[in-house]
Amino acid sequence: MTLLYDVKNLNFNYQLEGVEFKALKNINLKVSVGEMVTFAGPSGSGKSTLLNLMGLMEDTSRDMIFYNGKCLGNLEEHEKNTIRRFDIGFIFQSFHLFPVLSTWENIEFFLIRQAVAENKRKELIEEALEVLGITDLRDKRPTQLSGGQRQRVAIARALAKRPKVIIADEPTASLDQKNGEAVVNHLFEINKKFGSTIIVASHDPMVLKHSPKIIHLKDGEIQKENA
Ligand SMILES: Nc1ncnc2c1ncn2[C@@H]1O[C@H](COP(=O)(O)OP(=O)(O)OP(=O)(O)O)[C@@H](O)[C@H]1O
Ligand SMILES: [Mg+2]
Repeated sequence: MTLLYDVKNLNFNYQLEGVEFKALKNINLKVSVGEMVTFAGPSGSGKSTLLNLMGLMEDTSRDMIFYNGKCLGNLEEHEKNTIRRFDIGFIFQSFHLFPVLSTWENIEFFLIRQAVAENKRKELIEEALEVLGITDLRDKRPTQLSGGQRQRVAIARALAKRPKVIIADEPTASLDQKNGEAVVNHLFEINKKFGSTIIVASHDPMVLKHSPKIIHLKDGEIQKENA
């Protein structure tokens, strides 16, 4: 199996009013291409911090995260931007959709940033809408959608990029059981159908029940890993 991530002795501190707070302590983990991995653990255990580092949302200049064989800390800013733009689809707990754009336009936004040609954009968006079962929502704006529908748009937006890795922070947290299960099933389907690596943070028992590999965090440390 090809390694996508190799995290070695990762420590991460937040500065809080001049005091260092250790959010991640000596984290070691590997994620292979095509794998589906869930970070579990109580609130404050460091799940989002770890996802943000792996997704290049935080400054990674000092850190020992190898992505595709390259140490993120050694990359130039433009190289990191390329990874963010092409390789990573990030799904946030609170969706982060653009309120003035329709479903279609929200999905199209990142494809335009990737300079995908119009015909190809159309094809990718239509497929993403279909996989997520939201073709009939294409002209609606986020405010006209339910939470479950918004999360499906956010996943469609991540999927349409055809990223190497989809990173989802608490993707079911704002959803009821039924919508939550649908979202998890969609992530599985994307993992199987497109071979995307999927990394999820969640403390939702339903998500954990379905997760093939769980890495448990507590107080910024890995407690155990079960595959
Ligand atoms: N910007 C920040 N500045 C200072 N401390 C922070 C910051 N962000 C997070 N922390 C602290 O780092 C620790 C880990 O936070 P993190 O958000 O990664 O936890 P989490 O596991 O995602 O929790 P949750 O399940 O509530 O989302 C927490 O103790 C939190 O208070
Ligand atoms: Mg979090």
